[in-house]
Amino acid sequence: MHKSNHLMLFSYSLLSFQNSYALCKKCNKVIKGNLRVFLSRQKKKESFRAVFLAANTKDLSPVAPVQTQAWSESETTKVHKKIVLLGSTGSIGTQTLEIVDACSENFQVVGLACGGSRLDQFVSQIRKYRPKIVAVFDTTQLQRLHTLLKDLDYDCQIGGGEQGLVDCACFPESDLVVTGIVGCAGLIPTVAAIKAGKDICLANKETLIAGGPVIAPLVEKHRVNVLPADSEHSAIFQCLQGVPSGALSKIILTASGGAFRDTPLEDLHYVTLNDALKHPNWTMGAKITIDSATLMNKGLEVIEAHFLFGTAYDNIQVVIHPQSIVHSMIELCDTSVIAQMGWPDMRLPLLYAMSWPHRLFLPYSSLDLVKVGTLSFKEPDRNKYPCLDLAYEAGKRGGTMPAVLNAANEEAVFRFRNNEISYLEIAKVIEHTMSHHETGLFVERPSLDDILYADQWARKTARDFSPKLHFMKHSAVA
Ligand SMILES: NC(=O)c1ccc[n+]([C@@H]2O[C@H](COP(=O)([O-])OP(=O)(O)OC[C@H]3O[C@@H](n4cnc5c(N)ncnc54)[C@H](OP(=O)(O)O)[C@@H]3O)[C@@H](O)[C@H]2O)c1
Repeated sequence: MHKSNHLMLFSYSLLSFQNSYALCKKCNKVIKGNLRVFLSRQKKKESFRAVFLAANTKDLSPVAPVQTQAWSESETTKVHKKIVLLGSTGSIGTQTLEIVDACSENFQVVGLACGGSRLDQFVSQIRKYRPKIVAVFDTTQLQRLHTLLKDLDYDCQIGGGEQGLVDCACFPESDLVVTGIVGCAGLIPTVAAIKAGKDICLANKETLIAGGPVIAPLVEKHRVNVLPADSEHSAIFQCLQGVPSGALSKIILTASGGAFRDTPLEDLHYVTLNDALKHPNWTMGAKITIDSATLMNKGLEVIEAHFLFGTAYDNIQVVIHPQSIVHSMIELCDTSVIAQMGWPDMRLPLLYAMSWPHRLFLPYSSLDLVKVGTLSFKEPDRNKYPCLDLAYEAGKRGGTMPAVLNAANEEAVFRFRNNEISYLEIAKVIEHTMSHHETGLFVERPSLDDILYADQWARKTARDFSPKLHFMKHSAVA
């Protein structure tokens, strides 16, 4: 007789309950049996962290959980989560609130936070969702926020600065923190939320990229779930549910190719900020739209996938898929490829991360593959997209290097948006910052303080570097 706490359900049929299989972790035997019996013998909310030995790095356990328990319709009606939303005024934030509107029985907003540049919108959100705690990062806006909320007819804790964000992230009544802040500013509140035992719905990829070496052990220690909301990682996450341990051999991340997908390399010298902001398929915040044009967004996602799923860099492939219908794929050890598809709509991955391990009904229009017609895939042009190789390089180097890549990119994008550098100089600024970091300050096993120091150092280095002067110096020497 196999003991129930040794059984891991990995394949089931809802049509014929008899055709279900569980793996006995004790004796390593696969047992065929009845789904109802298996489920009654397993703990109700048990989930199993996958250890993908075949594809994964030996010293990294995956951050994302894998649910092997069967979906049960009666349980979906029980989904009720209290959420704190960081970055509520942005693209991710407003789409999260659309989901709350559509599933008001399932989600309640208890906390909201933003940067401070759209305070009127933030105040409207507070009046509508009536959160118990709110925060604005920019402390110069705090007094105005107090004034605008003077006539609020219920008790709401109002905070400012980093501490205000941390208080929101740790708010005792919440179950889930949705991180829609842009950039590395999300790192400290996310670390605080994990330490407070909150599950994380992760949109803010920069946090995991810079802080991966610190976040991965914290997730393990505090037994929280990090649920990916980025569309590609959500796709992988969805494909992985039910995949047995050791079966994953490769992750295939799809990329739209961004605004300059069809622009020849030689014309990239002349592109403007407005050109870079025209994404062919997705409507997103400005920073991520520019990252999509340079393919740095995909590079950051490669590092994000490494930490989320514990997968080695050589087993993460990027392919250009102009239609953005296949959101990403996994290849299994038997060469079977599983893909997740859908219209390019961020609400779907957000909803799945918020409702996991359940599925909720939403009345969106179905994906019509006949209407889509063609799905095509091609290799990214490494000359046209140097940021992709820089990200692989930083990820493989590990330690503080991904934090440096991320900070240098944030600064370079900021300078491009300010018309200080050209589009092609974004990669030059990042490359310069990474190579300087390598020669002195690199830390192999960083603490949170090392990461924060590397982040600040990289921002300053990227800010002070003039790619034009550098080019002239080299020309003069030549
Ligand atoms: N948009 C997408 O479709 C998408 C898809 C996948 C992943 N992501 C990721 O999700 C994150 C958010 O992207 P987004 O496109 O939603 O950006 P966005 O539209 O620019 O919104 C960013 C949000 O973060 C807030 N914020 C900025 N700095 C802050 C700080 N220091 N402290 C607290 N809040 C701060 C902003 O507040 P104010 O503007 O009010 O100051 C705003 O609410 C990024 O990491 C991005 O890579 C986005």
